[in-house]
Amino acid sequence: MNDNIFDIISKRATCRSFIEKEIPEEIMDKLLDAACKSPSSGGFQTYSIIKVTEKEKKKQLVQLSRNQRFIEKAPVNLVFCIDFRRVKRIIEVEPSPCIETDTFMNFWMGIIDAAISAQTLCLAAEAYGLKTVYIGNIINTVDEVAKLLNIPQYVCPVIMVTIGYPTSIPKTSLKYDKSILVHEEEYKDIDIDVLMEAYKKKDGNQKIKAAEKLVEKIYNTAKAYHGEEYAEKCKQYILEKGIVSTYQYWFGCYYLEEEGFLSMQGYKEFMKGQGFKWL
Ligand SMILES: Cc1cc2nc3c(=O)[nH]c(=O)nc-3n(C[C@H](O)[C@H](O)[C@H](O)COP(=O)(O)O)c2cc1C
Repeated sequence: MNDNIFDIISKRATCRSFIEKEIPEEIMDKLLDAACKSPSSGGFQTYSIIKVTEKEKKKQLVQLSRNQRFIEKAPVNLVFCIDFRRVKRIIEVEPSPCIETDTFMNFWMGIIDAAISAQTLCLAAEAYGLKTVYIGNIINTVDEVAKLLNIPQYVCPVIMVTIGYPTSIPKTSLKYDKSILVHEEEYKDIDIDVLMEAYKKKDGNQKIKAAEKLVEKIYNTAKAYHGEEYAEKCKQYILEKGIVSTYQYWFGCYYLEEEGFLSMQGYKEFMKGQGFKWL
């Protein structure tokens, strides 16, 4: 076991390949205990964690998460949810003037509570040689995820954490360092050349060849979002460099506003159906 917190933080890396090995119950209990000790807004702990280990359910979670197959291999998947159901049930017994499921502030707090709890668990997992990956995609199929997990009113999935033993130790990813991310006393833009240099250092090693189809896709996305002139500017920049950059790839080809993926229309509708009126 590794109990050096700085060592754990610096070695943490997302893992997308797991061996089919169970996590001993006493370890899993410790991780879940750690997650439940996280700070939360008002101390209300407005989150729940649904632990999924059944093979069939995991298979379905693969389908509901853009076919990320490692979800099935990993022994445990944890779905972190905003949960105001406990509050609602308690105030049925003990009348209280509560509009928490109607106010945007509480949506915000619910998400933060769930995320902090998830990250506490992810760091605790590293101490036992376990690795994790967040699965954001469940929010795009939230209706079906909720059916699969029998999620009732006033509960809403936020993020899933897939956890298990890695097939090999995953490589840590490059990060911006604190000279880029930390501002002293007030916000100050850093020099654009310094920023571009840092961006290149962090993301510039992903050299994707500017294949015709890829360029066309980025052109079409840029045109749909910002018009023809901007699309042409994007295309010329890519052709000049001969490669597609990280941002051009992810924003232009992957994270697209197709079928309400970015606007999360389905998620908003789902929340309404769950009894939340905060959006
Ligand atoms: C909110 C959130 C959602 C994520 N969703 C996914 C996902 O669906 N699939 C995946 O493979 N990685 C996912 N990731 C992992 C990120 O890709 C990863 O954290 C990032 O590339 C940085 O790498 P690192 O975690 O190794 O530092 C997600 C991370 C976060 C914080």
